Amino acid sequence: MSKDIQSYLLGDKIFQPDYNIKKNNYFIKDLHAYESLCLESKLDPEEFWKKYAIGFLTWHKLFTKVLDESNPPFYKWFSDGELNVSVNCLDVNLTNGNANKVAIIFESDDGQIEKISYRELFVRVCKFANGISKLGYKTGDKCIIYMPMSIEVIIAMQACARLGIIISVVFGGFSSKSLQERITDIDASLIITADYQKRGGKIIPLKDAVDEALSIDTSNKIRNVIVYKRTDKDINWFSSRDIWMFDLESNQDEYIDPVFVNSEHPLFILYTSGSTGKPKGIQHSSAGYLLWAKMTMNWTFNANPTDVFWCTADVGWITGHSYIAYAPLSLGMTQVIFEGIPTYPNSGRFWEMIDSHKVTIFYTAPTAIRSLVKSSDLNKEVHPNNFDLHSLRIIGSVGEPISPETWLWYYTNVGKNKCSLVDTWWQTETGGHMITPIPGVTPLKPGSCSFPLPGIQASVVDELGDEVSPGKGGFLVIKKPWPGMIRNIWNDSERFKNSYFPDELKGYYLAGDGAQIDSDNYFWILGRIDDVLNVSGHRLGTMEIEAALVAHKLVSEAAVVGRPDATTGEAVVAFIVLKGKYPEKHEDLEIAKELRNWVSQEIGPIAKPKDIVFLENLPKTRSGKIVRRLLRLKASGQSITQDVSTVDNISSIEKISISF
Ligand code: WT7
Repeated sequence: MSKDIQSYLLGDKIFQPDYNIKKNNYFIKDLHAYESLCLESKLDPEEFWKKYAIGFLTWHKLFTKVLDESNPPFYKWFSDGELNVSVNCLDVNLTNGNANKVAIIFESDDGQIEKISYRELFVRVCKFANGISKLGYKTGDKCIIYMPMSIEVIIAMQACARLGIIISVVFGGFSSKSLQERITDIDASLIITADYQKRGGKIIPLKDAVDEALSIDTSNKIRNVIVYKRTDKDINWFSSRDIWMFDLESNQDEYIDPVFVNSEHPLFILYTSGSTGKPKGIQHSSAGYLLWAKMTMNWTFNANPTDVFWCTADVGWITGHSYIAYAPLSLGMTQVIFEGIPTYPNSGRFWEMIDSHKVTIFYTAPTAIRSLVKSSDLNKEVHPNNFDLHSLRIIGSVGEPISPETWLWYYTNVGKNKCSLVDTWWQTETGGHMITPIPGVTPLKPGSCSFPLPGIQASVVDELGDEVSPGKGGFLVIKKPWPGMIRNIWNDSERFKNSYFPDELKGYYLAGDGAQIDSDNYFWILGRIDDVLNVSGHRLGTMEIEAALVAHKLVSEAAVVGRPDATTGEAVVAFIVLKGKYPEKHEDLEIAKELRNWVSQEIGPIAKPKDIVFLENLPKTRSGKIVRRLLRLKASGQSITQDVSTVDNISSIEKISISF
């Protein structure tokens, strides 16, 4: 870990949204309250977390121990307590006046609207859970969920939580190969999917991909595939295994007892990319995870009973878990769930939906905003100014650094200079927000995610774990455990320890991001320090893409790096050495097309290299390591001015000129 992190040009303008934020009981009301909570959490962490765990969650058996630190970094929270996540998301809303409140407003790709109340949602979850239970599935069994954005995916996730079935949601854009790897890694016995998904006017098969995944590894343990019927199109059917979701729900009892599980029972495993080839199964807990998701929903979004919340993420990512499937329900909120994409039927879709559903809190990713800035520059009709967005009070950003320019556009055109813009820094591993402004409270600096939340001891350190001085770059770490943290990497405790708690770092959690803290204590995220790219807010391991590329029959060697891209943040660039002879030109289009399709099949369309460059050789050190920093320079159009005397094969990249 001896990476040089460049200093960053800090913006200095501060914005203080001037409006009366509605208060709720747990809301942090001003900077003074924020500071005293931070102090409280430092002086007596046990008391701090205990107070929230009791105040926020409904327990079946109350815990006596808050944090078990006996075997770091395998921390346990509330470890002798028992609860059920679906009770905390649904049952609680039947007796607190929310039973008839709309839980979900679903808008389909083609604009159809369906609403479901908390009572109706509870009944459907119970009926579906009864159906699964009758098929013989029980606590501790593993289920893969591969579904489109829908009310049904929430039902599937909540029904599994009710029975203590451990889920792994796989994003619908992943290929059958990726799906198969996840099925195998968690040893799943059940899959819940849909026939097709509708996105941007297209119909994309899901059940087909499941059938294919199951045929790749025929030693799989899958007993049933439950299918949510989204279209009238035909699919292949295996009657000994496949069941329609609606058939399974019908005629079932409208109630099922929840299974109370230990606080540490895994609620889900979510795969994400790391620096080596194989995706990591991030294992989260039940109690600590839900607590942190709910606390942060309250603090960062100031969740109030009259709010209409809309998070545009997919449930296949952590954002869709924490801030769609669990936290908004646990707070009895009304939320919008959207099946489609921001640019269909046109790029005004988001603004039109905010207007028609009177959304008050809107949470999206910088990549979406960047693409909508571009479209509204080209076509004034889809500019946010043409829509009534006055219902908004808080707007949020997540997934990647938001540049000050994009921040300002969002703040001015969507937030109309009156909404708090919360730039939330967090990760799949953290379970919920970690560093973020408190709306209406934290003065905002465009491009900075501001301060850590109370209870979160974030810092920026050097390779020995010592704090660096203000304005200097370093590694972002979290010094103390928190309830929402990752518990393990599924099937790989060693990798868990090595990736997140390396020996040199004093037992701190290593986030994998470079950062710096300015003289006002604001945090600035500088991007990943490992071989992980962030393309449109999605995490992609360069090694994973390289492994896919070298598996192709024509490829001898591959090196994948990122380069800046105006819309997607980063773009994937692959340098390839072919097995046969060097092609006529370094950008042979036919082979490049084939390799792109190959990556799409192996991992999913999100991992497709944007640019493919063919080389005779890859630049390497004498010991044979690929010198990626040179490829990175080349990929971003810069010239190589460093000393390259120790690099082999350098002429191979020096002689080509690349312009993307
Ligand atoms: C990585 C985590 C958190 C849910 C979505 C992504 C980057 C995330 C921000 C932000 C700058 C950010 C980091 C982080 N990231 N939010 N507000 N500012 N960078 O989850 O796939 O686990 O990716 O996304 O690099 O490590 P993820």
